[in-house]
Amino acid sequence: MSEIQIRRGVAGDARALAEFAARTFADTFAADNRPEDLSAHAAAAYGVLQQTAELTDAGTATLIAERGGAMLAYAQVRRCPPPPGVDVDRPVELQRFYVDRSAHGTGLAQRLMSAARAAAHEFGGTHLWLGVWERNRRAIAYYGKEGFVDVGSKFYDVGADRQIDRILVAKI
Ligand SMILES: CC(C)(COP(=O)(O)OP(=O)(O)OC[C@H]1O[C@@H](n2cnc3c(N)ncnc32)[C@H](O)[C@@H]1OP(=O)(O)O)[C@@H](O)C(=O)NCCC(=O)NCCS
Repeated sequence: MSEIQIRRGVAGDARALAEFAARTFADTFAADNRPEDLSAHAAAAYGVLQQTAELTDAGTATLIAERGGAMLAYAQVRRCPPPPGVDVDRPVELQRFYVDRSAHGTGLAQRLMSAARAAAHEFGGTHLWLGVWERNRRAIAYYGKEGFVDVGSKFYDVGADRQIDRILVAKI
């Protein structure tokens, strides 16, 4: 089997990324959310137009992990200040971080996080921050292993459902 490569996403990845992002979002949250809330959120966040805008935004870096042309994971970091009250020096947001279920527990997440940290460093960052649903226990455990600490919370709307995200930060 060929090796997994991690590379920067480009505009031509928009369709494949939109499909992969919508699928991994559904895989992650379908069991614990109302279908109508997930559909509303997915319609706003995922689609060729949305991913083209993200892939071509100079303030966003998209990292794609693939094997033999098949997407296995992606991450996005962007220049975006954290919510008020989160006081860290030179923050860069880890906006999205999704690994296909088939690759959970394989070490791919750790490789992708290294690439995300490098991309955030290139943006001049010294800290990563992110929001993660308080009920996403696997992700919270994973981020803890990567040195993230909990510094607060914020609301995050998924369709009509107002959820609470933990805000985590880590040194780059
Ligand atoms: C979050 C994610 C990137 C982590 O990657 P991963 O390869 O699964 O991470 P790892 O297996 O290295 O670590 C996960 C840890 O959570 C633990 N874990 C698994 N299920 C758990 C649960 N229900 N509750 C608490 N911890 C759990 C695992 O045992 C492991 O810890 P260990 O190494 O000490 O045993 C990956 O699971 C993923 O993409 N999930 C779906 C998308 C997602 O949630 N993204 C984050 C959005 S903010």
